[in-house]
Amino acid sequence: MLKKKILKALNEQINAEMYSSYLYLSMESYFQSVSLGGFAAWMRAQVQEELMHAMKFYDFVNERGGRVTLNAINKPERDWESPLAAFQHILRHEQLVTSLINDLVDLAAREKDHATGIFLQWFVTEQVEEEATVGEIVNRLELIGNDSSGLFFLDAELGKRVFNASQAEA
Ligand code: FEO
Repeated sequence: MLKKKILKALNEQINAEMYSSYLYLSMESYFQSVSLGGFAAWMRAQVQEELMHAMKFYDFVNERGGRVTLNAINKPERDWESPLAAFQHILRHEQLVTSLINDLVDLAAREKDHATGIFLQWFVTEQVEEEATVGEIVNRLELIGNDSSGLFFLDAELGKRVFNASQAEA
């Protein structure tokens, strides 16, 4: 059985993951609007990944006998001034999500909820990977600057990303 405080925090994290998915869906639409199909495809995989994160929390709450409460999802931004600005936004957002996960880990430890602590370890590792991946794309976009051929090359590369549902089991 989940303690009230933990249940509330897990429900808030479901909302945060749903918001991430919503934000990245908005970015997918932005990239489609500027004809960067590869970036848009990368974002679609990111949207699915965030939904998978939300569902992992959802399933965990149910497994522990808690009741999921879904709250309103904030409206995401609609436009970015450049692909670099969008990816800088993603990096800031993922850093925020990392701090939310760390706060949850701290709460689970304070409340001596070891099962939640172990469950969260997957997300601790996932956030390291997310920040590293996005940070690398930010660096590459900074190097590319106004070079459109570099941008199209990166677009083609990012377009190869596909969402791997089996990640959810890892
Ligand atoms: Fe669910 Fe991108 O963290």
